[in-house]
Amino acid sequence: MVCMRQGCVLLSKTISFREVLHRKSMESSLRNESANVYVSTKAKSNTRPMRLMLFSSSICTNHCRGTRPIHNQAVYGRSRFYSTQSAEPLTSSAWQIGKYGGNQVLQMVETLKPTVSKPHDVLIKVYAASVNPIDVRTRGGYGAALLNKARRVKPGDEFPLTLGRDCSGVVVDVGKGVKDVAVDDEVWTSVNAVKAGCHAEYVVCGMEELSRKPKNLTHIEAASIPYVAITNWSAAYAVAKFRPQNALGKRALIFGGSGGIGTFGVQLLNAWGANVTVTCSENAFDLMYRLGAHHAVDYKSPNILQELLKHGKYDFILNAATEAVEDLAIKVIKEKAYAKYVTLITPFLNEIDKKGPLLGGLSSSLELFKKSRKFAGAGATFRWAFAQPNGFALKEVAKLAEDGKIKPAIDEVFDYQDLPLAFKKVENGHTRGKVVVNVAGESAKGFERGAPELFQ
Ligand SMILES: NC(=O)c1ccc[n+]([C@@H]2O[C@H](COP(=O)([O-])OP(=O)(O)OC[C@H]3O[C@@H](n4cnc5c(N)ncnc54)[C@H](OP(=O)(O)O)[C@@H]3O)[C@@H](O)[C@H]2O)c1
Repeated sequence: MVCMRQGCVLLSKTISFREVLHRKSMESSLRNESANVYVSTKAKSNTRPMRLMLFSSSICTNHCRGTRPIHNQAVYGRSRFYSTQSAEPLTSSAWQIGKYGGNQVLQMVETLKPTVSKPHDVLIKVYAASVNPIDVRTRGGYGAALLNKARRVKPGDEFPLTLGRDCSGVVVDVGKGVKDVAVDDEVWTSVNAVKAGCHAEYVVCGMEELSRKPKNLTHIEAASIPYVAITNWSAAYAVAKFRPQNALGKRALIFGGSGGIGTFGVQLLNAWGANVTVTCSENAFDLMYRLGAHHAVDYKSPNILQELLKHGKYDFILNAATEAVEDLAIKVIKEKAYAKYVTLITPFLNEIDKKGPLLGGLSSSLELFKKSRKFAGAGATFRWAFAQPNGFALKEVAKLAEDGKIKPAIDEVFDYQDLPLAFKKVENGHTRGKVVVNVAGESAKGFERGAPELFQ
């Protein structure tokens, strides 16, 4: 692990003394020339193998506090015991942040390649990854209070952080408990926000967070899908119980059809047999119809209520736009308890960031209660939804993609070294579909500006 401020090396692992000597020499070649590498043993006499900590130069006291182990990065872990491959320490690059802020905090660093450290871990060579609005917000500190709780670190100790919630790539190592995928398999994943992310050459995820990628998609195409797929799945399938078994002929509405969530959601609900209406800007209508929307309504239209009601009320409404649409939603949802309004725009993490887990949790629960009552008064149900890593959902979506029912909707592809430009694009809003980063240099022909057949 390279400390971003001091360029020091910080490692935590269970290894033998012989390995220490070997790795110490490896580390010497990695570390900043001015940094000294120390070896400290923290071993109980009856513990085999010994727990050793290699740690960095004594000058790195502010940031790393001497021997602090890395919490959010698989460094060497226990690869020797769980991995099915030999785990030689190699370097790889990652985009990391050493503090929260604007785009300037993103830095590409050379760091130790992550390794498998648990029996169910899978190490993936990332070919392409996407940038989602959540990455932009996390870069600025959004959700830090709750995520640090989950990581069990004090504020500030979470750095360096690698962002990026989803990718497509190839398996290069698996833990001994991994069953469904093997080395050389092409996979896609959306990793838990607590872990190191996908804006890197390698990422480690749990076997329950991935599936094989659709065979008919390139890595660039595939990388545009996992995070928006698991979010839509969580909202529709898990929270609203709006599923292939009951969606046929039902009416669904997506507020925010033209973004990453909406361009995937319209295809998923359409594939399940629903009649899908979306709201978006007029210049996105063609795209929405190509993706399978039955009706598109301009969200800036002064007659939006009448236009939304033109074909009747809705069984399922997904809000991927703004809290402001809630008053509209309550007027167009069916007066049935099974009719669900599910919103991805929640105050939950913001409140916890501002007020702490207890007060923030309480105030957002109160908000949830109030809105639930409001929708119950209209005869419907109000719910929040969150992205949840879900290998099962990815497997189902891969089948739909292979059947041609889900297509990647890509607005723009950026080179790996231009990742900050991809963040800027997402931050500026008005994207049509997804923004993808080409990590391994796969040909992005045809995607210089979007998926050709969708963005004519
Ligand atoms: N709760 C969760 O776990 C979770 C997970 C994923 C995403 N989200 C949230 O869901 C939202 C959507 O995510 P995304 O990835 O789709 O974002 P995105 O790709 O940035 O999509 C933005 C799209 O929304 C459209 N839009 C903006 N205001 C609108 C409105 N009032 N009505 C209809 N469309 C509108 C924009 O179109 P124009 O250019 O025409 O304005 C743009 O195409 C974000 O706020 C994100 O943070 C939450």
